This record gives sequence, structure tokens and C-alpha cells, in this order.
Amino acid sequence: MNLGVLVSGRGSNLQAIIDAIEAGKLNDSISMVISDKEGVRAVDRCLKHGIPYRVIKRKDFRSKEEFEKALVEALKEAEVDLVVLAGFMRILSATFLGHFPMKVINIHPSLIPAFQGMHAQRQALDYGVKITGCTVHFVTEELDNGPVIAQACVPVFPEDTEESLSERILHHEHRILPQVIRWISEGRVRVEGRRVVVEGARYGTLPFNPELEDF
Ligand code: GAR
Repeated sequence: MNLGVLVSGRGSNLQAIIDAIEAGKLNDSISMVISDKEGVRAVDRCLKHGIPYRVIKRKDFRSKEEFEKALVEALKEAEVDLVVLAGFMRILSATFLGHFPMKVINIHPSLIPAFQGMHAQRQALDYGVKITGCTVHFVTEELDNGPVIAQACVPVFPEDTEESLSERILHHEHRILPQVIRWISEGRVRVEGRRVVVEGARYGTLPFNPELEDF
């Protein structure tokens, strides 16, 4: 598949995809990275690895609609098959999603439907849960919702800070995101209403799924 990756900042999930491709674990290529921010680390990663990228900023457009039109054009030009939101901090409209039906996935640092939106890790700490994690899901119009493809869980320790918890979750983000891309690439992912079935995979959740050990 040609992957289009949308980013807003650090780009460590983008790096996890790059690493999986370079290690031969993914047979896909990144044909376009779009950042809605200038001068972010995600862009440096593109430069370092020779990956085509564009910076498309919301404030350069009069409306969200025009901004999204530019995103769609860039992704279509690059013949993108799957759009991956990897730390992209914007909500996409139904119009955007209509261009890529069930072809947009997102990584979110909680076990959705818990702690959607910003600062999911801090929300988990403040709420006092003992387990949290991360989710890869198909993107729908609802914020950080949509059919769940894979999740990984981690413990929350009493001494955790937002940083330590984020780091523990991030380790698993970097595993489940490439894993899901591979499942989709292999044509094994089927959506039945809210449920996602991955052919040949008994569980979509760490630590139970041995297949995830690949990543
Ligand atoms: C990641 O933790 C990702 O799950 C989160 O932003 C971070 C981006 O890090 N995304 C969301 O909160 C989406 N609602 P990265 O730029 O290093 O990949």
C-alpha cells in the first residue's frame, strides 16, 4: 500500500512506521507525509529518510473545508491507499473521510472509549484508573472513536507522572500501529458494524496477541 501519514509534531509513531518498513516488516511505502505544523521533528524525520512530505497549515486557508481539500489533493496526488493519523491533532470532517471510506486509521493513547480528546494520559492519571493503554481505530466523525482494530494495555503505577505513563504507553503505540498497517495491507481486516475482525488473529489486544510480538 501507499501510506499517507498525517502528523502534527514529534512524529515518533511516524518513525515506528519508517523503522518497520526499513526492517522489512512492512511491505508498504510512505508516499506522502503531511504536517499541519512547520519545523516539527516529524518533518526532520522525512528529510532524514528521503520521504516526500508537505506542510499544509490550517491558517493558510479561509475555511476548514479548503484546508481539507488541500489535504485530499496532496494525498490523492500521492496515490495514497491508507491514511494514518499519527499524532495528527485535528478532527477530520465527513467530507474528508468520504474520500477515503474506512481507509483512515488513528492511534490514540488510551483504551477508547475512555479518555478521548487531548491529554489522554493525564486524564487517565487524574481519573485514577489502574490500567490504561492505546488504541488503533478506524476514524469516523466522532473524536477518537470509531471501530477498534487493536489495543494494548499498560499498568498505571502510584508513582507515575504524565511523562512516565506516556512513555510506557508510547512503547506499545509503536508496536500496534505498524501491526495494524500490516494486517490491513494483508487484507485481513474486516469491519462488521462497530466490530473489527482480523482474520487469523484471535486477539487484537496486547499482551495476549503473540502476533504483535513481531513489532
Ligand atoms: C501519541 O501519543 C498519539 O497517540 C497522540 O499524540 C502522540 C503523538 O506522538 N495522539 C492523540 O492524542 C490523538 N488524539 P508522536 O508525534 O511522537 O507520534
